[in-house]
This record gives sequence, C-alpha cells and structure tokens, in this order.
Amino acid sequence: MIQVDLTGQVAVVTGAAQGIGEVILSRLLEAGASVVAIDLKAGDKCGFDQNRYLFIQSDVSDFDAAKEVVNRVLERFGRLDILVANAGINRDQVLWKMTKENWADVINVDLGGAFNYFAAASSAMKQQNSGKLIAISSINGLRGKFGQTNYSAAKAGVIGLVKAAAKELGKYSIRVNAVAPGFILTEMTDKMPEKYRNMAIEETVLKKAGKPEDIANAVLFLASDLSSHITGEVIKVDGGQYI
Ligand SMILES: NC(=O)c1ccc[n+]([C@@H]2O[C@H](COP(=O)([O-])OP(=O)(O)OC[C@H]3O[C@@H](n4cnc5c(N)ncnc54)[C@H](O)[C@@H]3O)[C@@H](O)[C@H]2O)c1
Repeated sequence: MIQVDLTGQVAVVTGAAQGIGEVILSRLLEAGASVVAIDLKAGDKCGFDQNRYLFIQSDVSDFDAAKEVVNRVLERFGRLDILVANAGINRDQVLWKMTKENWADVINVDLGGAFNYFAAASSAMKQQNSGKLIAISSINGLRGKFGQTNYSAAKAGVIGLVKAAAKELGKYSIRVNAVAPGFILTEMTDKMPEKYRNMAIEETVLKKAGKPEDIANAVLFLASDLSSHITGEVIKVDGGQYI
C-alpha cells in the first residue's frame, strides 16, 4: 500500500486554527512532518507532539511578520519543506456596494498572505534546492462568483502567483501548486444563508458538500513525492461544481 511519509519534513500552514487549515495541519502531522501553525487566533495546542508542533499567532497580511515567522521556523527546525498558504477571509458584496475596506481586506489576506508566505519561504527553500509551495485558491477564482468581486479577484490572483512562481522556482526543484476547493463545510460557509448553501450543493455533480478532509488529502498529495512531476497546476476539489 502506498502511504504518504513526510517524516523529517517541516511544514508551515497558515490559517490553521480551524476549518480546512486545521485538518491540513492534522494530516501533515499524521504523515510524520513537523508542523508550524499560523493564525490570527489561538489554535488548539492540546494533543499534539510538542516536538513536532509549534503555533505562532500572526497576521498573514503582514509582509515583515511572514519573514520573521520563517526565520523562527528555521531556528527551531533547521529547514522548511512545505508551505501551505491557506488563510483566507471573505467579505461578500456586489461590486457597486463594495467598500474599499472590504476590497482591501480580502486582497491583503487572501492574495497578499499567499504572496508574503511564498516570498519568505521561497528564499529558504532556494538554499535547500527543494520545497513545495501550495496555495488554497477557490473555484470562484477560476469562474468568478456573484457578490465576490474581491474574493474572486484575490483567488484568481493566487493562481497567477502560483504559475509565475512555478516558472521562477522550478530550477531549484521547488514545486508550486494550488488547490481550488468548491463548496466545503466550514465556519466560512456556515455563515452563508441556507438558500445559497443548497444552491452550491445543487451545482455539484456529486450532489454533496465537500469536507475539509477532501482538501487536506489533495494538499497531502501535492506535498508528497506522489506529485513529484506536477508544478504550476491547479487541482479543483469540488465534486464537479465547476464543470
Ligand atoms: N470553505 C469553503 O467552501 C472554501 C471554498 C473555497 C476556498 N476556500 C478557502 O480555503 C481556505 C480556508 O477556508 P475555511 O473554509 O477553512 O475558512 P475558516 O474561516 O473556517 O478558517 C480560516 C482561518 O484563517 C484564519 N485567518 C483569517 N485571516 C487571517 C490572517 N489575516 N492571518 C492569519 N490567519 C487568518 C482564521 O482565523 C481561520 O482560522 C481559505 O483560503 C478559503 O478562502 C474555502
């Protein structure tokens, strides 16, 4: 049986206090990696092997803080192999009512956060001549969604970031990929009115919502050697919602 073994590898996951990020964190720990969790709010530190787990409270939209986090990771673990830029927010509103704050917040966290962590991690990974950068985009960055000009723009931007970074970093054996989730049951989607949640499920061809585990499994694949010839790719995990 093929198993993903990340023993000895060091990973950073942003937005790891809940939802998709929290499950990515658990999966990476289960696969044997040491994991540094980043979030604005405190995560659950119980039950994890403290030799392989570190939580750092930090805002991904802060460029300098991302560099400091990566320096702390290198001091503590000596290397950085896997970076998962997962932290994200939404502030939905139609374009003509969108405030500049709601636009800027989503761009700064969802796109800026991925850029800040990719930039900081890539310089560490270049020294090692290896690494995996993974961003969580969205199918709404591929197709655009009503009420989400800010979010769709940020998530489309993440895909551009991934493709350009893959070209720049390939010669250092650093692979750069994105996962584009469809409708996944988390606190982010709990806030949606039931009508829209049902519409999203109806859009899928599998007629069901995704779970954070579905996204974490795709991240695990991209973080492992099972995907050693895949870079600059966007993997949709959406039950066929985008088709
Ligand atoms: N849930 C879905 O249906 C869905 C679909 C497509 C894409 N996504 C993307 O998946 C990712 C995770 O989403 P989720 O559903 O788990 O959301 P969530 O709201 O449940 O969790 C997001 C986490 O990110 C953290 N975070 C927010 N802003 C931050 C910041 N500035 N700095 C550090 N941490 C911050 C939050 O505190 C939270 O713990 C996001 O990028 C989201 O856009 C989710």
